[in-house]
Amino acid sequence: MLTEKMEKALNDQINAEAYSAYLYLSMAAYLESLNLSGFGNWMRIQAQEELSHTMKFFDFVYERGGKVSLTAIDEPPKEWANPLAIFEGAYEHECKVSAMINNLVNIAIDEKDHATNNFLQWFVSEQVEEEASADAVVQKLKLIGDHGNGIFMLDREMGQRVFHAPASQAT
Ligand code: FEO
Repeated sequence: MLTEKMEKALNDQINAEAYSAYLYLSMAAYLESLNLSGFGNWMRIQAQEELSHTMKFFDFVYERGGKVSLTAIDEPPKEWANPLAIFEGAYEHECKVSAMINNLVNIAIDEKDHATNNFLQWFVSEQVEEEASADAVVQKLKLIGDHGNGIFMLDREMGQRVFHAPASQAT
């Protein structure tokens, strides 16, 4: 059984994960408008990951006898200065999400909700990867600078990314 405070916090996270999906889809749309379809593919996969995070929270709330309450999703930005600004934005966003997950863990501890704390540990680890993967692209783009060849090669590499459902959701 979830406490009211825990249930509200988990519902807020469902909204935050859905917003993340929306943000990355907006980034995908912008990258594809620049004919950077590989970068766009990377962001589409990122959006799929965020939807899988949304569903992980959704399923958990029901599993614990709670109620899912969906709220409006904020409008994401639509334009950025360049690809580097997009991936810097993605990295900063992931750092914010990590802080949200840490806050959820703090609430679970305060509420003495060991099951939710245990569930959240998957996200604690996931956020390490989420921050690292966005930052890796930022670092590559900084190295490449304005060299068109480098952008072309990286775009091709990022077009290879495929979606892997989290283990608990694989069918
Ligand atoms: Fe759901 Fe990228 O954190």
